Amino acid sequence: MIGSHRLSRIGSYAFADVDNLVSSLRENGISPIDFGVGDPQDPTPDVVTEACKSAVDLRRSSGYPSYEGSLEFRNKVSEWVRGRFGVEVDPASEITSTVGAKEAVFHMPLAFINRGDYVISPNPYYPAYERGTIFANGSCHFLGLRKEGGFKMDLESIPDEVRGKAKILWANYPSNPTGALASDAFMKELADFAVDNDVLVVSDECYSEMYYDKKPRSLLEFGYENILVINSLSKRSNMTNYRIGWVMGDSSAIKLFRKVKTNVDSGTPTFIQDAAIAALNDEAHVDAMRQGYRKKRDIICNAFRGIGCPDSVPEATFYIWQEAPEGISGVDLAKALLDESIALVTTPGAWISKDIDGENPGERFIRLALVPSLDQCREAAEKIKEARI
Ligand SMILES: Cc1ncc(COP(=O)(O)O)c(C=O)c1O
Repeated sequence: MIGSHRLSRIGSYAFADVDNLVSSLRENGISPIDFGVGDPQDPTPDVVTEACKSAVDLRRSSGYPSYEGSLEFRNKVSEWVRGRFGVEVDPASEITSTVGAKEAVFHMPLAFINRGDYVISPNPYYPAYERGTIFANGSCHFLGLRKEGGFKMDLESIPDEVRGKAKILWANYPSNPTGALASDAFMKELADFAVDNDVLVVSDECYSEMYYDKKPRSLLEFGYENILVINSLSKRSNMTNYRIGWVMGDSSAIKLFRKVKTNVDSGTPTFIQDAAIAALNDEAHVDAMRQGYRKKRDIICNAFRGIGCPDSVPEATFYIWQEAPEGISGVDLAKALLDESIALVTTPGAWISKDIDGENPGERFIRLALVPSLDQCREAAEKIKEARI
């Protein structure tokens, strides 16, 4: 069977490669500690699972859910956003539910991109920024995220030709994989860019609740015109399995995105939306989660510092974008950690970054997702000390 040209334009999914790596270690009788994929291993909070169970009974009569999400769900999102960011979002015209953030990211270009149009993406990046663009017949222009620039996208560096044909710019702060936050000044720059260039700036804020000290702000605090924000409960509430998120912002863009969605799926299951409402009603589990990740972050960052790696403490997210010691590549560091005696799975930065003009901004990094348990992180820290690099 021959697949479409579209499919042949994309390679394998980096995290499927990580999964394969883990499986092959297991086949050899080794149980690695897996920092590869950003999928929380802690259970979904009881408050969420209980709400979901009752909702399954409550919604017994089935029926398709609404395309844009139930009014209860959209009202709850609006209330939560008001409390968290101090922003008013109209549930009727400015919010739509999604099947997680990934679905929103992947389908967004279908609403705005014609052949030949550009999507501007950070690099390193979440793969769906590029994959969705390819499926919509667009082209990506990448902006490298560099440690010396505080992992900020350099909007000034966008060539005029790209700027003229750009329809979407992806921003992702708190950033996967760098763990960086956007400064207020940069948020303002993004909001101005949207208006000045008539480009839809879509801010993927699915890590907004995973911070250590400074609370991340939302791009909607800085502007409205040509701005959409994506959020999700996958990471905030350990709900990756539930597949629920939302898009909010400029009503004219929401209207177009909703039109795509009515043709793609038939909405998020109502019992999942009810579970999401329960999740948004509770902040205690989110506080506890943040404390847990802080402990893990400190243990692992200290261990890398101890073997001569540059300081790479993230401000937010549950990722560590660890720089390798001078003269060593991220791939070499990841390989050293994969040695059977250590058996730590991490993602080489080059796997989630693009080579642009012979330079790969992820080359000297590895990404660790702090998803193993605290005890496993302690064990991993001891093993890191033994790494031969
Ligand atoms: C930057 C970014 N956006 C979106 C997603 C997708 O999240 P969801 O589970 O809500 O689809 C992820 C998941 O890791 C991510 O890192």
